[in-house]
Amino acid sequence: RSYSIAVIPGDGIGKEVMPEGMRVLEKAASIFGFEIEQKWHDFACCDYYARHGKMMPDNWKEEIGRPDAIFFGAVGWPDTVPDHVSLWGSLLQFRREYDQYVNLRPVRLMPGVPCPLAGREPGDIDFWVVRENTEGEYSSVGGIMFPNTDREVVIQETVMTRIGVDRVLRYAFDLAQKRERKHLTSATKSNGIAITMPYWDQRVEAIGAEYPDVSHDKYHIDILTAQFVLNPDRFDVVVGSNLFGDILSDLGPACTGTIGVAPSGNINPEGIHPSLFEPVHGSAPDIAGQGIANPVGQIWSAAMMLEHLGEAEAAAAIMRAVEQVLATPSARTRDLKGAASTDACGKAIAEALG
Ligand code: NAI
Ligand code: MG
Repeated sequence: RSYSIAVIPGDGIGKEVMPEGMRVLEKAASIFGFEIEQKWHDFACCDYYARHGKMMPDNWKEEIGRPDAIFFGAVGWPDTVPDHVSLWGSLLQFRREYDQYVNLRPVRLMPGVPCPLAGREPGDIDFWVVRENTEGEYSSVGGIMFPNTDREVVIQETVMTRIGVDRVLRYAFDLAQKRERKHLTSATKSNGIAITMPYWDQRVEAIGAEYPDVSHDKYHIDILTAQFVLNPDRFDVVVGSNLFGDILSDLGPACTGTIGVAPSGNINPEGIHPSLFEPVHGSAPDIAGQGIANPVGQIWSAAMMLEHLGEAEAAAAIMRAVEQVLATPSARTRDLKGAASTDACGKAIAEALG
C-alpha cells in the first residue's frame, strides 16, 4: 500500500508542528507496512503571498496533482495579510474546489488535558461533530437594498438542497453505525426557522429510516449548546447544518480543553477529490518560532487521515501513543503545564508507537 500526501505546513506554528506530524506518520508507515509518498508545497501561506501577491499559484490544482490526501498545518499571519484574504485564498479554495462537504471533528477528553467541565475523566466524553461544509446558512444569495439610508434592507438566504442535506446526513448515520452506541443527534431550530429547519428534520427522518439499527434524536441548537456543557456524555455523533455545525465544532473541543490537541477533517467521502486533515488551531503568532507549540493536534490529524485512507490499525496505534504521552507530565508541552519542546513531544509519540 502506498499513499500520496500533499504536505502544506502553512504559517507560524504550522511549520513547527508539521514535521512532528510527518515524523509520526512515517514511523507508523514503517511499522504497519505502507508507504508515504510526500510532496511538500510552499504555497497557501503568507510568505508565498509576500513574494507573489497571492496565496497560491493560479495552477495550484496541477501543482498538487491528485494526492490521496492533503495534510495541512495552519494558515494566517495577520500582521502582513488580512485573515479573510489568507483564509479565502487557501483553505476555503480547497474546501470548495474539492467538494469537501463534511467537516469532522472529534470531541474526546484526553489524559493530561484539564477539562473545563467539573468532574469529568478521560473516557467520559467521546463523540464526533459532523458539520455540513458547503451550503446552508453560508450562501452568497442575498443583497442590500437602499444602502446607507434609513430604508436599508439586508437579506441573506439559507440554501438547502436535497443532495446537500442527504449526503451529509448519510455520512453521519454511517459514522454512527460504526460506533458502539449507534446514536445520532441532529441540531435543529425548527421552532424558529420555520422552512429550512423543518426540511432538515424531515430529511433526518427519511435518511434515519435507512438505518434501523441507529437511534436518533434532535435538539434545538440553543438547548443543544447547553447540553454540550452540562451533559457531554450523552452524545455519540452530532450532525448540524453549516452554521450550527460551525458553532458546535468549536464548542465541542472547547469543552474538552486545550486548542493545541484538537484535529479536524474536511472530507470528500467518495474520494472523488482529496480530503484535507489539519489541526483545529491556527498559526499562533504569539508563540511561533519558539519551538513550544503542542504538536498533538497535527499528529491526531495524521491519525484521522490514516483512518480515512483505510489504515485503521495504524490510526488506532497513533491514538494509543498520543494518550500514553499525554499521560506523562514530562512529555507535555507548555500549554499542558509541561516543559517539553514541540519536537521532544513529537519524538516521544513516535517512540511510543513502537
Ligand atoms: P490560534 O489557534 O492560532 O491561537 C489561539 C491561542 O491558542 C493562542 O494563544 C495560541 O498560542 C494558542 N495555541 C494555538 N495552537 C496551539 C498549539 N498547538 N500549542 C500551544 N498553544 C496553541 O488562533 P488565533 O490567534 O485566533 O489566529 C492566529 C492566526 O491563525 C490568524 O491568522 C487566523 O486567521 C489563523 N487561523 C487559521 C486556522 C486554520 O489554518 N485552520 C484556524 C484558526 C485560525
Ligand atoms: Mg469556526
